[in-house]
Formats: sequence, structure tokens, C-alpha cells
Amino acid sequence: MQLSFQQLRAQLLEVALSLAIVGVAHAAPSLPTGSRLYAPCVVCHQPNAWGSPDGAIPSLAGQQARYLEKQLAVFRSGARVDTAMQVVAAHQTFSNQHDIVSLASYLSGLDANPNPVEGTGEHLRVGQELYAHICAACHGADGRGERGNRVPRIAGQHYPYLRRQVELAANLHKDLAPPEMTSALRGMPPQEKDALADYISRLSNSATLLDSNRPDGAGISSRPISP
Ligand code: HEC
Ligand code: HEC
Repeated sequence: MQLSFQQLRAQLLEVALSLAIVGVAHAAPSLPTGSRLYAPCVVCHQPNAWGSPDGAIPSLAGQQARYLEKQLAVFRSGARVDTAMQVVAAHQTFSNQHDIVSLASYLSGLDANPNPVEGTGEHLRVGQELYAHICAACHGADGRGERGNRVPRIAGQHYPYLRRQVELAANLHKDLAPPEMTSALRGMPPQEKDALADYISRLSNSATLLDSNRPDGAGISSRPISP
């Protein structure tokens, strides 16, 4: 039987991953549990958990712990679809709730990425207005999410990843996110989705946030010049 590229990649990954987890557990028993469990993730999410440099793989650092726990569970159950992550989450580590909690708590305690990949910056005013009207109620004006209700931090997430999630939330993952969110995104024109994702990717940059909150919107189309 001819394996598809995806099947092959999945199998290779599984082998590599099992070896990595076992290897790391033996080689470094003294490492704290969280960073030891994170070791097999480094290849994609990077050592500081800031995601891939091209912004396709999300940053996990500083994310709400309970949201992370839930994501590992839904990748494992198949409710959230992604080949790489479903293979990762199928590993036996993720049948152990204690390990999931340790890993999520480790990641949420890391410093968030200060330099995420951003969008073009062309329509930030539109993004800001949409965000304030539809999204801030749950994700917070600062985009940091909320622990109790497992609302994710989205501020400072990479633009390419956010843009894809905004699309997926309206279609593929529509049963995971609340209906208020998915219905708002479903009818939204692509340019508005671009603007929203761009604005959110810049939310953790406090200088941009302050500027964009000024009534005249001064400064929202340009990044602050660093000293
Ligand atoms: C082969 C590459 C790869 C590896 C290894 C990997 N990931 Fe991922 N991860 C991804 C990709 C790609 C996505 C984005 C999936 C999507 O678009 O829905 C992702 C998404 C995630 C998300 C969802 C983030 C969010 O904001 O919703 C979590 C949580 C996550 N990974 C945790 C982990 C952990 C923990 C490990 C290690 C045990 C790991 N990943 C290993 C590629 C990888
Ligand atoms: C009713 C509350 C609510 C509203 C309103 C809402 N969200 Fe969400 N959002 C959530 C929750 C809860 C999740 C986590 C869903 C899950 O567990 O998979 C989420 C997930 C997301 C994600 C995925 C994050 C990741 O790391 O993958 C993005 C992106 C997002 N929301 C963007 C938005 C945008 C943009 C808006 C405004 C158009 C919005 N949300 C409005 C509650 C909300």
C-alpha cells in the first residue's frame, strides 16, 4: 500500500517523538517536569515556545493554562484537526492528566513573544473597531484571555497563525469556539478578517495599543520607532 505523504510524515513523527520523550526522560531525570515534557515540542514550537519564525506555528508562551490543557485534549480526541498536533497528542503522555497540567502550567509561565509576525498594518483602524465590538467582551480589551473560562490569550500571537484560526473558527473548528464568535466570523469579508488578525497580532505591543486607543487613531498605522 502506498502511504500518503501525510501518513508517512505522521508515522515518522510518531517514532521520533516517542524516542525523544523516552530519551529525554532518561537522559535528564533532574530537569523539572514541565520543561522535560516540552522537549519534543521544541522542534516545531521552538525553545522559548514563541512559535515558528514564519508565524505558521503558534506561540504557546504565556498562553492561558486551562486553554492549553483543553487544546491537547481536543487534538487527542480529533475534535480539533491538525496532522502534526494530532500525532503529538496521541502519545501516551497525553493520557496522563497530571503531565498535561504540568506542561500547560510550564508554558503559561513563560514570557510571551515580544516580536510576533504581524500583518501589513494597512487597516488597523478597522481591526480595532471590530475587535472592540465583537471580541473584547471575551478575550479582553488587552487580548490576554481569561483563565476561568478557558478563553485564550490572542494578543501578540503570530498573524499568519491567527489569520488561519479566524478562518477555521468559522468552519472547521466551529463547534469548539462559542457561537457568538463563530457566527461573527462566518459572515465576515476576508479584508475584515485580515484587519482583525493584524490588529490582534499587535495587541501585546503596549505602544501600539495606546496609540490606537486615541480618538484620532494617530499612530495606529505605523509601529513605534524603537530607540
Ligand atoms: C511537527 C510539528 C509540531 C510539534 C512536534 C508540536 N506541535 Fe503543537 N502545533 C503545531 C502546529 C502546526 C500547530 C497549529 C495547528 C493548527 O493550525 O490548528 C500547533 C498547535 C499547538 C497548540 C494549539 C495552540 C493554540 O493557540 O490553540 C498547542 C497547545 C500545541 N501545539 C502544543 C504542543 C505541545 C505541548 C507539543 C509537544 C508535546 C507540540 N505542540 C508539538 C506543530 C507542532
Ligand atoms: C463569547 C466569547 C468569545 C467571543 C465573543 C470571541 N471569542 Fe474567540 N474564543 C473564545 C473561546 C472560549 C475560545 C477557545 C475555543 C476553544 O476552546 O477551542 C476562542 C478562541 C479564539 C481563537 C483561537 C486562538 C488560538 O490560539 O488558536 C481566535 C483566533 C479567536 N478566538 C479570535 C476571536 C476573534 C477575532 C473574535 C471577534 C471577532 C472572537 N474571538 C470573539 C471566546 C470568544
